[in-house]
Amino acid sequence: MQKLTILQYPDPRLHTVAKPVSVVDDRVRALVAAMFDTMYEANGVGLAATQVDVHERIIVMDTSEERNRPLVLINPEIVRRSEDSKEWEEGCLSVPGIYDTITRPASVRVRALDAQGEVFELDADGLTAVCIQHEMDHLLGKVFVDYLSPLKRSRIKTKMLKRQRQAA
Ligand code: NI
Repeated sequence: MQKLTILQYPDPRLHTVAKPVSVVDDRVRALVAAMFDTMYEANGVGLAATQVDVHERIIVMDTSEERNRPLVLINPEIVRRSEDSKEWEEGCLSVPGIYDTITRPASVRVRALDAQGEVFELDADGLTAVCIQHEMDHLLGKVFVDYLSPLKRSRIKTKMLKRQRQAA
């Protein structure tokens, strides 16, 4: 069990753009295992490597109720987005306690490598589609609060910084 430190908004490192993984090897698999430990421990449904200060295109997720369907996406690409969109109340392990409604395409098809380095495609809707898009944003250095108004974002920033000072 290896727990990694999750960067907290507004940490500027959350805005780093991740690089593609060149080889899916034991180093990557060890990171994936540690990311799953960290995500499950924090009760999250998804975690991007960016959030643990590793700037490579790696995502771990589990959107099942039973918390027994781990999904790894390495070098993910969206190959299809639905025309219709859906609103979802999103949260993030890097912005704990903050939830807001974000509108995104309702379903997506993603192409990625698995932990063995094999290519696969997945059609996702509901929470899984939301999670894939949310985590892929992290890899581009984007946090969900970046979709909110500047006023809302500045309030969230103040709240987070105050909380981080109190915890320090
Ligand atoms: Ni997030």
